[in-house]
Amino acid sequence: MSARKIIIDTDPGQDDAVAILLALASPEDLGLLGITCVAGNVPLSLTSKNARIVCEAAARPDVPVYAGSAAPLARPLITAEHVHGQTGLDGPDLWEPAMPLADGHGVDFIIETLRRHEPGTVTLCTLGPLTNVAAAFNTAPDIIDRVQEIVMMGGAYFEVGNITPAAEFNIYVDPEAAEIVFRSGAPITVMPLDVTHKVLATEPRVEAIRALNTRVGHFTAEMLDFFERFDVEKYGSEGGPLHDPCVIAWLLQPELFSGRHVNVEIETKSDLTLGMTVADWWGVTDRDANAMFIGDADANGFFTLLTERLARL
Ligand code: BDR
Ligand code: CA
Repeated sequence: MSARKIIIDTDPGQDDAVAILLALASPEDLGLLGITCVAGNVPLSLTSKNARIVCEAAARPDVPVYAGSAAPLARPLITAEHVHGQTGLDGPDLWEPAMPLADGHGVDFIIETLRRHEPGTVTLCTLGPLTNVAAAFNTAPDIIDRVQEIVMMGGAYFEVGNITPAAEFNIYVDPEAAEIVFRSGAPITVMPLDVTHKVLATEPRVEAIRALNTRVGHFTAEMLDFFERFDVEKYGSEGGPLHDPCVIAWLLQPELFSGRHVNVEIETKSDLTLGMTVADWWGVTDRDANAMFIGDADANGFFTLLTERLARL
């Protein structure tokens, strides 16, 4: 079987970085057409720099990295330096990337790539706020039917929220964009906090990655050393949740995950619950299902996959 073509839309972020590395480590399975950056965890100038640092860490400066949207569709940007550090990628010693940004805007790259490839052959992997994808759908509605699938990290049902009591960060930052995407009709698979909070980078798991004793192994372990402190302090958990890598792991080994096909609506009006993903997990409405909402994962299987794949870089 040929590699599944993907675009990664991202706001790196240590967990975004691990997701990118997992994709780069899996070229037989995933053909990474390009990376589009969005403002989220940190401003666009940093996310578009961090994505290039990650590509260089994996010795893949050939991957086109585009800068996309610098702010949400209808709101000021909210960032998460309190989780990811001032650079967004705190942990390892960082460097100024030598590879340039690709020419053009990330939103245009998404539109042109979907138009250039056969319908139903390009998957969008979204690891940050959905601004770029929503902007692309607004500008070029013809591309919606051409999307094979959107696999996203975002939202929560049982875990409810992380950035507010009611909302997960990626959806909260740009709820209008999330609403556009969830109402688009494109096939969607969602990795909410409900599953990502079960995929914890515990000390033995991080040490197994460090023990690869490669550049990527050390780079990843040093990112996770920094990243875990926030969730360990907040939740008393045994490690940081590897939110965004769940998206890539699902493409590689979907049997590691389980969920339900349900309706998901986005709260865009209430101050109190802005950005809430109202998932009809129990099927109590007659609203049509619009997303596969993942609820569980085989965390050991996930870390076996991740560690084996990172060893290839
Ligand atoms: C999401 O928000 C970001 O902080 C992470 O990178 C992840 O995409 C988790 O809520
Ligand atoms: Ca992210």
